[in-house]
Amino acid sequence: MADNTAKKTVVVTGASGRTGSRVAQAVRAAGFEVRAASRAQGFDWENPTTWAETLRDADAAYLMYPSDVGSPAAAEGIGALAREAVGLGVRRLVLLSARGETQALATEEALRSSGADWTVVRASWFSQNFSEGPLVEELRRGELAFPAGEVPEPFLDVRDIADVVAVALTSGEAYVGRTLELTGPRLLSFREAVAEIAAASGRELAYIPVPARDYGDALVGFGVPPEEAEFLVEVFEGLLDGRNARLTDGVREVLGRAPREFGEFVREAAAAGVWKG
Ligand SMILES: NC(=O)c1ccc[n+]([C@@H]2O[C@H](COP(=O)([O-])OP(=O)(O)OC[C@H]3O[C@@H](n4cnc5c(N)ncnc54)[C@H](OP(=O)(O)O)[C@@H]3O)[C@@H](O)[C@H]2O)c1
Repeated sequence: MADNTAKKTVVVTGASGRTGSRVAQAVRAAGFEVRAASRAQGFDWENPTTWAETLRDADAAYLMYPSDVGSPAAAEGIGALAREAVGLGVRRLVLLSARGETQALATEEALRSSGADWTVVRASWFSQNFSEGPLVEELRRGELAFPAGEVPEPFLDVRDIADVVAVALTSGEAYVGRTLELTGPRLLSFREAVAEIAAASGRELAYIPVPARDYGDALVGFGVPPEEAEFLVEVFEGLLDGRNARLTDGVREVLGRAPREFGEFVREAAAAGVWKG
């Protein structure tokens, strides 16, 4: 007889990363079992023979593709894993995508055509790019050189992404076949964002807009492979041309509340000493 009291299991890829760690937390809080899946657990996006073991007997999965959902390998990887998941009976799949990133459309399509009960969550720039990840070291040194010009962006707290993903994963059919666009509640330029970080952390921090090409050259100088730097230049040139300079109500639609304020994120991260020199 089936055990109806058994907790449902959700596979969380990238569970040690920025979104995955929060998705795991939110899914557990909703009363589900989490099966963490990154290389520490033997799951490797680059090695398909590791996928079945991770997916078997699970009920749903959160898919994030490192390091970019629009990277050339992402469409193939997401498509192949999604088909394998469906074959194993794991039909409920939620993909983290990037709002306005044309390179990510093929990856989204690979999920949609896999036969899965899919949801695509298109996120804006993470607020946490400033506190966890490559930008934080520059800010600690006192300035951020970035190819964002003066374009406004609705920075989004990754905790809101996680909360939305967890609802999508655990609420049955409600968000199957939906593409959800998530933004934060306020448009801010990178200059304004850095100024808020400076004020909250009591430091003088400069924002220096640079051309995307120069940024790509600098990445190569820091050891990023030229083809990866070229890809990032193309992504930044597209994403930061103003196409994302508007708000959506995706977070409120799913969670019934406003998205977290950038100022709240900044206050908490500054209090934790993230931007200390
Ligand atoms: N940054 C943004 O503003 C933004 C906005 C929208 C969408 N996105 C998308 O968000 C995704 C990144 O999500 P994130 O920031 O949560 O990730 P993250 O913090 O960069 O973490 C990457 C995760 O992937 C795992 N990982 C790396 N290589 C792996 C491999 N070969 N096989 C299995 N796991 C691997 C890492 O764990 P191990 O190293 O332990 O394996 C880690 O858990 C990308 O697809 C990006 O396009 C980003």
